[in-house]
Amino acid sequence: MLRITLTLLLAAAASAQKLSSKLTQITEFGPNPRNVSMYIYVPASLPPNPPILVAPHWCHGTAQQVFNGRPWATLGDQYGFISIYPNTSNLADQCWDVSSKESLSHDGGGDALGIVSMVRWTLKKYNADKNRVFVTGTSSGAMMTNVLVGSYPDIFAAGSAWAGVAFGCFAGNGYGEWSDACATGKIIKSGSDWAAVVKNAYPGYSGFRPKLQTLHGTADNVLYPQNLKEQVKQWTSVFGVSETPTEVTKDTPLKGWTRSRYGKKFEAYEAAGVDHNIPTQADVVMDFFDLKCKSSNCYSRRSR
Ligand SMILES: *[C@@H]1O[C@H](CO)[C@@H](O)[C@H](O)[C@H]1NC(C)=O
Ligand SMILES: *[C@@H]1O[C@H](CO)[C@@H](O)[C@H](O)[C@H]1NC(C)=O
Repeated sequence: MLRITLTLLLAAAASAQKLSSKLTQITEFGPNPRNVSMYIYVPASLPPNPPILVAPHWCHGTAQQVFNGRPWATLGDQYGFISIYPNTSNLADQCWDVSSKESLSHDGGGDALGIVSMVRWTLKKYNADKNRVFVTGTSSGAMMTNVLVGSYPDIFAAGSAWAGVAFGCFAGNGYGEWSDACATGKIIKSGSDWAAVVKNAYPGYSGFRPKLQTLHGTADNVLYPQNLKEQVKQWTSVFGVSETPTEVTKDTPLKGWTRSRYGKKFEAYEAAGVDHNIPTQADVVMDFFDLKCKSSNCYSRRSR
């Protein structure tokens, strides 16, 4: 009995070890002015043009914690996609730089460029699908999701932001600045003003824009729920659709969560009574990105 228990424990330790040893650091991957570290998980078996999922961490979080705490690597094994885990060099609070003019500009620099360099490197190295690059994260990772789809609409196919803020809401004069005003829901703009912030990130760009879903708890006292409303105004205006939803579904995927869709490219979930620790629903992300798809007809930048 003791021996069996011991064997099981050892087996469990070995499989945990195996999983963590599969997160590989890449050191030379292109322009990276803020010295963000790159970690990647590449499944043993992949389709010829695998999709890519980027998973930026939360404040005080690490690449390793996202790798361990989210199912993306396991789902990548199952459905055939690569996942990338950037790690900030900002050791003060391990939050992403979502404030600098550099991050908030296409190819401008900041943490955003470092992360995009990881994507560009991976596209080349693994002949990955440039039309199926996705980004999802929680809190600071959700802010970075908004930043990446805003500054790099030419790279991403879609984003999924869990408890974040609108693109540019943290805008400041330096890298990785915290904005109390934004966090507490005091940065209020009209849809067209918010959309201008996004459009100014990449002046003259008129191509495909990544679709976005954003999810937020009504009891979030770190990034106040007003930030969901500001994202709704921003992205509906970017997509040129009404701020009135085209479809509202209650109790999905959990009781008390309400999904509002605004045309085909944007959806917002309001999770009643949920605080800043909104629990990621992997299926919601996988389905929005169509990452379970194995046909030649999956959602991509080529989809309408
Ligand atoms: C970049 O970050 C790594 C740790 O992630 C550190 O070892 C290295 O010294 C940093 N390089 C610079 C130039 O800051
Ligand atoms: C990421 O950075 C943190 C903070 O410096 C560090 O503890 C961690 O080991 C780094 N690497 C990964 C894979 O998370």
